[in-house]
Amino acid sequence: MHFARLHTPSQIQLNEQGHLKHFVSIEGLSETTLTQILDTAETFINNNNQLITSPLLEGRTVMNLFFENSTRTRMTFEAAAKRLSANVLNIDIARSSTSKGETLRDTLWNLQAMAADIFVVRHSSSGAAHFIAKDVCPNVAIINAGDGRHAHPTQAMLDMLTIRRETKKPFSELSVAIIGDIKHSRVARSDVAALQTLGCKDIRVIAPNTLLPYGFDEYGDEVRLFKNMDEGVKDCDVIMTLRIQNERIESPALASQLEFHKLYGLNETRLATAKPDCIVMHPGPMNRGVEITSSIADGPQSVILNQVTNGIAVRMAVLALAMQGQLEAQGLLNTMMAE
Ligand code: CP
Repeated sequence: MHFARLHTPSQIQLNEQGHLKHFVSIEGLSETTLTQILDTAETFINNNNQLITSPLLEGRTVMNLFFENSTRTRMTFEAAAKRLSANVLNIDIARSSTSKGETLRDTLWNLQAMAADIFVVRHSSSGAAHFIAKDVCPNVAIINAGDGRHAHPTQAMLDMLTIRRETKKPFSELSVAIIGDIKHSRVARSDVAALQTLGCKDIRVIAPNTLLPYGFDEYGDEVRLFKNMDEGVKDCDVIMTLRIQNERIESPALASQLEFHKLYGLNETRLATAKPDCIVMHPGPMNRGVEITSSIADGPQSVILNQVTNGIAVRMAVLALAMQGQLEAQGLLNTMMAE
């Protein structure tokens, strides 16, 4: 797998009016679309920083299809759909007929026949969400909840919302460091794409050679590589730490986790070289004592749990916008609004 972009043509994700109808990848979407997602997410958070509820998806059915484990993404999609008053169905993959050899396509077509409006899909194969978006009935929206090493677009958008709300600065003025296992990380790939699209000019990728993807050079001038962690985090506004994805590493990429922590772990001495108001992020799940020390993960500069809460608002926004885009594509939105 290369770091080179696996393109998702915008035609798959957008309807004829240019509005979101599937959300498969950050690539192919404009700054306007990403900003619309962030602005819509903000409308689901009130002045007391509480999430609101809305009847927007009343009568709609959201199916969560998680073919790979998840805590945050699965639960926040369910919370988001319920806050929008949708019916939510979760398939238990281990007990489904995929264990009897049913193909992904047959499983999906059977679920579609149960009147699904939105599939939220997590799969270990890169490109699974794209494949499904091309194959489903035209009235079903596909939201990628993470596919292999390829993309995790709602994670990227909740990261962008967290950065925007916590720093209160334009993306063009921020220095953002992403540290660790870039090679196997769909989060890193989607975060870099989102930061670039939103105008960030100083994106620093900090990793040893063994955790860097091939094709790194294809990223633009705004993405710089640092092998030395102390140089990489200097004067940063945002530090994103990443989990070592042991389940995706085929041969040993590290001498040891202790060695990784010594060279690339975020500790107090390193954080002190960033800007004093630098925020610390992690998509979770965390390996405490490997990529991040507990004192920082639980410390005053950590916004890790804010990321989780913002994930509900962002996923509400993506579900609402994709449903609106689907209805618009079918010419149903105006009919419903006229009634
Ligand atoms: N960040 C993230 O995708 O976490 P989960 O695997 O728990 O969903």
